[in-house]
Amino acid sequence: MNLSSDFPPGSGVTFSRVPVSGKFVAITFDDGPHPRNTPRLLDMLAERNIKATFYVIGRSVDMHPGVLRRTVAEGHEIGNHSHTHRLMTRLGVEEVREEMQRCEDAIGKAAGVRPRTMRPPYGGLRQGQRELVHSEFGYPTIMWSVDPLDWQRPGPSVVARRLISGASPGGILLAHDLHAQTVDAMPQTLDGLLRQGYKFVTVSQLIAMGETQPTAQAAS
Ligand code: NI
Repeated sequence: MNLSSDFPPGSGVTFSRVPVSGKFVAITFDDGPHPRNTPRLLDMLAERNIKATFYVIGRSVDMHPGVLRRTVAEGHEIGNHSHTHRLMTRLGVEEVREEMQRCEDAIGKAAGVRPRTMRPPYGGLRQGQRELVHSEFGYPTIMWSVDPLDWQRPGPSVVARRLISGASPGGILLAHDLHAQTVDAMPQTLDGLLRQGYKFVTVSQLIAMGETQPTAQAAS
């Protein structure tokens, strides 16, 4: 597959899924980079030739820049997950800007790339804040269509089952490479989805793909 990641700026302020005609999903991993779990996950993704999207925390990027470089080198997409992972609904405009800018700078410094999308910590971002990060940074806010609650550590097979049963075309799957158990769930999850005929794309590819559909509608 040779897919574009370029979506026009007017595509939408928020996405939790993207209407597409094929069996495409975007799997996303939040809260890294982690020095052990992320490289282990990258091995699993590489073995299956799957590209994912990583919503990274700026201060973790500062601590583990080499892990981010490897993630970028292996063709994955990097998204902005703020610098310090605070609940942003409680923050003022200046603090939101600073959270976004510092994370973007950390990513640029470590790996020479600029994120195209953001995901708010805890999924918390008010509509006005979403419009601000969209207009000032060009980031759509990326939510999800499937949440396996993997941070509660229900066990790898439960995480895998929830992700597989929740998947649907155009879906955005939420997971956290911060947690070892989530990474343990990935061979079963990825192989299960591949067996069902799903193809994995990055979030930006999914949005760009949705734009080309005549019936595309971005959720706002
Ligand atoms: Ni997070």
